[in-house]
Amino acid sequence: MTANAPLQRAEMEAFWMPFTANRQFKANPRMLARASGMHYWTPEGRQILDAAAGLWCVNAGHGRKEISEAVSKQIATMEYAPPFQMGHPTAFQLANDIASWLPKDMGHVFFTNSGSESVDTALKIALAYHRARGEASRTRFIGRERGYHGVGFGGISVGGMVNNRKWFGSMLPGVDHLPHTHDLAKNAYTRGMPEHGANLADELERIVALHDASNIAAVIVEPVAGSTGVLIPPRGYLERLRSVCTRHGILLIFDEVITGFGRLGAPFGTSFFGVQPDMITMAKGLTNGAIPMGAVAASDQIFNAFMQGPEGAIELFHGYTYSAHPVACAAGIATQEIYRKEGLFARASDMAPYWADGVHSLKGLPHVIDLRNLGLIGAVELDPIAGKPGLRGYNTFVRAFEQGLLVRVTGDIIAMSPPLIIEKQHIDQVFGVLGGVLKELA
Ligand SMILES: Cc1ncc(COP(=O)(O)O)c(C=O)c1O
Repeated sequence: MTANAPLQRAEMEAFWMPFTANRQFKANPRMLARASGMHYWTPEGRQILDAAAGLWCVNAGHGRKEISEAVSKQIATMEYAPPFQMGHPTAFQLANDIASWLPKDMGHVFFTNSGSESVDTALKIALAYHRARGEASRTRFIGRERGYHGVGFGGISVGGMVNNRKWFGSMLPGVDHLPHTHDLAKNAYTRGMPEHGANLADELERIVALHDASNIAAVIVEPVAGSTGVLIPPRGYLERLRSVCTRHGILLIFDEVITGFGRLGAPFGTSFFGVQPDMITMAKGLTNGAIPMGAVAASDQIFNAFMQGPEGAIELFHGYTYSAHPVACAAGIATQEIYRKEGLFARASDMAPYWADGVHSLKGLPHVIDLRNLGLIGAVELDPIAGKPGLRGYNTFVRAFEQGLLVRVTGDIIAMSPPLIIEKQHIDQVFGVLGGVLKELA
């Protein structure tokens, strides 16, 4: 095997690809070999405009020298340090950097290696928090239909995407799901946040009435549901969830793996929506996707509940060999510095109206049944082909790639989330190519 030479089919069997139709892919691979700025290049040298920030993570654009230099320097200086009962300065620095984006009483950061681990960590902290305060009966979790919280057993239990759940047995016991908020009949083609659906948060009261608040630990939602195909929260919905949780002593967890680090044109969803949860999970944009890393930010109230008892006692029996890995921390610090210096979150906010115009310019094209946008997120929902759900979406994704555009596809929904460095001319190209593909495949 030589770099950039086409692989033989037999050479492709060893890699069991994640969330991929392995046989279909290996029969007709889509390979990426290099990246810079807004673009990928295929091994043959074809340029691909990245309208997905890789996988919602390369918020500062590709090939950032500041990050690769920080990573090289750290790996040469100290490639690893144990995180249990030991520390290194970069971990503390990055925790402070992250806290600087968050509400000031949410500044306690626990490091993980992925979004999935962040979710499982937050769920475990919720259980241990209640127990530490003498409310050990609070063990139930409430997620939401169509939610995506990664692929750990905790995450798929509170998640609500059927294919991610149905294969994997009974998962965590004691989980309920709120209804999802997608309502095409009332909200199709809304620019920004939809008007209808805040009342869906009241379903939480029904679940509380069923189980009693004394048995419920936490509610977890994505402020904007990303992986299921971009469901923007209805106006007032997150506020109502917050108030029901507060009323009943239930913790509210925002899974900000996608909405964190500027995606909406504010540091986090909490600042964008003006609703403060008790914990925030994050990953992806934390290191610009350069090195795997995740984190959970917890409120003072949660953190302080653990900082009790004898000083020599370990307060939380949880952590990973690679929690606060020094190389990931170096990537994270360099990434935060780029966000800060280049004002990328404000830039995303400035660019959002032009992006929204681009998204909604697709109205009326064949098989388009909805267009959605918020910050630098966009989605095109397509009418499924009868009896073949997902095929139209997949065909659109493949044809777009052939024409030099990378988007995401979930079923028949095309999702877009470009790097925050995107220029107007790229936005024109994204919607020009996508519009052309939709017409061609009509
Ligand atoms: C909201 C949300 N939570 C959790 C995850 C899981 O993250 P990871 O794939 O890093 O485990 C994702 C990934 O897309 C996500 O969007």
